[in-house]
Amino acid sequence: MAIQNVMVIGAGQMGSGIAQVCAQAGFNVKLNDMKQEAFDRGIATITKNLSRNVEKGRMTEEEKTAVLGRISSSLDLKDAHDADIVIEAAVENMEIKHSIFKTLDEVAPKHAILASNTSSLPITEIAAATNRPEQVIGMHFMNPVPVMKLVEIIRGLATTDEVYKTVEEMTLKLSKTPVECNDFPGFVSNRILMPMINEAIFTLQEGVATKEAIDDIMRLGMNHPMGPLQLADFIGLDTCLYIMEVLHDGFGDSKYRPSPLLRQYVKAGWLGKKTGRGFYEYS
Ligand code: CAA
Repeated sequence: MAIQNVMVIGAGQMGSGIAQVCAQAGFNVKLNDMKQEAFDRGIATITKNLSRNVEKGRMTEEEKTAVLGRISSSLDLKDAHDADIVIEAAVENMEIKHSIFKTLDEVAPKHAILASNTSSLPITEIAAATNRPEQVIGMHFMNPVPVMKLVEIIRGLATTDEVYKTVEEMTLKLSKTPVECNDFPGFVSNRILMPMINEAIFTLQEGVATKEAIDDIMRLGMNHPMGPLQLADFIGLDTCLYIMEVLHDGFGDSKYRPSPLLRQYVKAGWLGKKTGRGFYEYS
């Protein structure tokens, strides 16, 4: 199936990044959110990113205008009526996702693929809210979306090979690398990343080293672009805790128990970069 029209649900950090890379690849994009202000903020971020590309000589001013021209605002899920694929990047809450996917199933064309950018919620369970579970799939982009090369593609229990193939081809058109995995808690990325971050927080909690030392050891010793505590701040400590809970519940194994220090920071409202304070302070 040839994809032309893409609808992205959620104009936050991930959703706006996904809309940007889709528009840059030539797709028509509807960027949906509940409020116009959220769309405006998303478009402002996209415009800033594209302007940097123009400044760096990677794009002309005309190309930037054309990319922005391919993105339109949507405040109603019914706008999915002409979508070939919908990529949902709303909040990580199963009830909300069920409600969105149920509506999308009613309003999107029969052929449309319904994808979720969820970082850890089961695709099979999201798909169960629809009458087309074979056309539901995970498309897990990494943050920051315009920079990161990976899209982890998650097959739900019922996802067909044809749907997988279409999404794989679309990902290649976005100049990203699709990597396939099955629907299991945390998929592959967060099953491996989050326990590492959680262990770094335990290491800090136990006073083994300072936060700077932990990050330096992983940055300089393992060539990670960011240390695990800096990365946790970047992802959001609430998100890290949420994903650890998904792993802990999903596997029932104590090796996934979230660090008490992580819980304490989340309770304090120290959620990382987005709130100005996590393991580090941000101005
Ligand atoms: N949006 C768009 N572009 C961005 C950006 C953003 N938010 N942040 C950085 N960039 C661009 C910069 O503009 C710069 O581009 P130029 O080549 O035009 O200069 C380029 O990325 C490099 O940025 P910097 O020089 O400022 O800084 P850096 O070299 O330290 O790179 C980084 C920044 C790419 C974020 C790098 O630190 C990195 O790769 N960090 C790790 C990111 C990571 O692990 N992401 C996955 C998180 S987990 C996840 O997303 C999934 C989940 O489910 C939790």
